Amino acid sequence: MTKETSRVAIWNWSIVTRAIVDSFTKLNPRTMMKNPVMFVVEVGSVLTTIALVRDIAFGRPGIGFELQITFWLWLTVLFANFAEAMAEGRGKAQADTLRKARTETVANRLGPGGQVQPGGQGAHSWHPFSYNPDTGLVYFSAIETSTAVKTATNFVARPMSANVGLEFPMPPTIYDELKSKAPRVAESRLVAWDPVHQREVWRTGVLGNIGGGTLSTAGGLVFQGTNKGRFVAYDARNGKELWSIEAQTGVVAAPSSFELGGEQYIAEEVGYGLAPYGISNQSRLLVFKLGGAAKLPPAPPQPPKPVLNPPPSTASAETIEAGHQQFASHCAMCHETAYANRAVFPDLRYSPALNSAEAFNAIVLEGALQTAGMASFKGRMTVDEVQSVRAYVIERANQAKSAPPTAGR
Ligand code: HEC
Repeated sequence: MTKETSRVAIWNWSIVTRAIVDSFTKLNPRTMMKNPVMFVVEVGSVLTTIALVRDIAFGRPGIGFELQITFWLWLTVLFANFAEAMAEGRGKAQADTLRKARTETVANRLGPGGQVQPGGQGAHSWHPFSYNPDTGLVYFSAIETSTAVKTATNFVARPMSANVGLEFPMPPTIYDELKSKAPRVAESRLVAWDPVHQREVWRTGVLGNIGGGTLSTAGGLVFQGTNKGRFVAYDARNGKELWSIEAQTGVVAAPSSFELGGEQYIAEEVGYGLAPYGISNQSRLLVFKLGGAAKLPPAPPQPPKPVLNPPPSTASAETIEAGHQQFASHCAMCHETAYANRAVFPDLRYSPALNSAEAFNAIVLEGALQTAGMASFKGRMTVDEVQSVRAYVIERANQAKSAPPTAGR
């Protein structure tokens, strides 16, 4: 919706005329009592009016002053009512416009597919930026991403499902099909921006695929971590890298600085919630100072690579296709590992539960892993539907197992 459709002109004539009428109907003492100040002014107006009428009736001389007071008091009350009625009228008109926009807004089908830039991750995301009054620059991570999508060929809307009408899983050839030149993998950089002259002053090369919070100090430094596991200090004026450390884990939080006993410390919480599922985080608070000598203990060995071990795929093509549809509606938004940032959810192709219909049902329908974030789909899916998803995932696991070694993760 554009701004135009939600805006209501200040002097909309129908609102003004309605407000004039309302300023009189609002004189009803029961309405006025809701605003004690104006109610007192109204009572005052009534009293001076009574006094004025009495003086006119008795033909007293010198009523000019009384006339003026009465006039101004009524004007005050009426104007207050008018202003209130205008505000109410405009609010109502705005609500009407929004309501109309809600029923009249059109969604366009993208045709066979399309591309969104920046992608779902956004061009910056939540990572805090910093401002350095000495350089006059703002330091933030900028992410270049895109999302290319293909419209589902046989989409059926279902209650309580994602209903995005997109192909799941997205074919890997989608960018080529769309002849897209957009970045296929998210790329994050640290950017120094001059907000007064609205221009970029420097930027780093690609640091990772998600940004990190920044801190800029009076010492002329900018600190930022990368999701690839480095914590780096740059020269705030020109972006030259001056120092870095391997943090043994992704670093995305914003650093902070404090002074203790006359010494400056830089503190950084390291650890990365989006590390691939099954890979542990080395979550720690790392604190640095000039001349500090502490060393990190050696990094623990990487956990063994998960192994694809599905049972043979024996289900019919129809069952597998039905499972594909159910997976797209109910599971893909979390478990489709091809999507950015979905790595925290298990890749179901590797799940031992594929080997047992009972185990799969216990997780999906009985909520066996509910406390770990895998809600029960009881009442939303039948046992047959759940088992069709299992058949579909088994099929995909077998495909991945027989694919060249680069497939899977
Ligand atoms: C809102 C996100 C979400 C959705 C939607 C979702 N899951 Fe899960 N699922 C999770 C999480 C989180 C876990 C990991 C639980 C844990 O850490 O043990 C999980 C775990 C699982 C596991 C166990 C995996 C393993 O490690 O062996 C299975 C099986 C599973 N889900 C099946 C499904 C199926 C089938 C659907 C669709 C019907 C589905 N899930 C939909 C979040 C989701």
